[in-house]
Amino acid sequence: MNIETFREQPIGMFDSGVGGLSVLRAVRSELPNEDVLYLADQAHIPYGPKSKKKIRQFAVEITCFLLERGAKLIVVACNAASAAALHELREMFPSVPIVGMEPAVKPAAERTHTGKVGVLATPTTFAGDLYASVVERFAQHVTIYKSTCPGLVEEIEAGNLDSPKVRGILHEALDPMVEAGIDTVVMGCTHYPFVIPVIDEITGPKVRTIDPAPAVARQIRRLLTERSLLNLGESGGKLHFYTSGDLQAFVELQPKLLGETGEVKQVKWNDRLYLAEQ
Ligand code: DGL
Repeated sequence: MNIETFREQPIGMFDSGVGGLSVLRAVRSELPNEDVLYLADQAHIPYGPKSKKKIRQFAVEITCFLLERGAKLIVVACNAASAAALHELREMFPSVPIVGMEPAVKPAAERTHTGKVGVLATPTTFAGDLYASVVERFAQHVTIYKSTCPGLVEEIEAGNLDSPKVRGILHEALDPMVEAGIDTVVMGCTHYPFVIPVIDEITGPKVRTIDPAPAVARQIRRLLTERSLLNLGESGGKLHFYTSGDLQAFVELQPKLLGETGEVKQVKWNDRLYLAEQ
């Protein structure tokens, strides 16, 4: 395949569910010319409480699936999968550029005035080396208040972005942090940016939320540029989705979360991931 053809290959992205659409949203505005394959592994959601080993198996298999369909770069649009598998994916696929998520503790530590920062993420992310490493490198001088927001991923998957349950979960997580004096709260799970309006309401105007998605989109642009892989053609920008969960539910959530739609195909798991008969 020559370089011109390779430039036109899609970016492959995945998450346990619809969370990665918050990253896709940023990719669409930064790189509107790129085709994207997005896989939501909703058969296995939530990843957050699962073992590292299990999440790694899913991540490797999904990455193979996306590469087989021509992905020129992989975005692990999931903090939990990045925590469990990013290192191994880069070792297994050394020629593929792979972008992952890590909690945006660095910008939070740089910007905080009170020296108190909240981080919302899932248990796997907090237990991972990526989180430990960013805290050690950039946030030694900062007090971090953590919450896993149990149940929030499931609410967002159900399309509930402002239900009494969502408000209850967020109050429980954020009230003690606000009381303690945080001025910054980091979205350490790609699902959570979808409830930033409620978070802002609860934390008030003195607390800033950090969604890492725009920075990740800029990083994708940098990598594609460096490797001469940016799609310069006019015909790009198509979206293709796959879900291992309920196809209809995914179709219905797309416009609400992403503001646009694309074709969705059903995938299934046996040991491997495969495309179901349509
Ligand atoms: N969206 C994923 C993340 O960024 C996790 C959601 C889940 O627990 O499945 O961590």
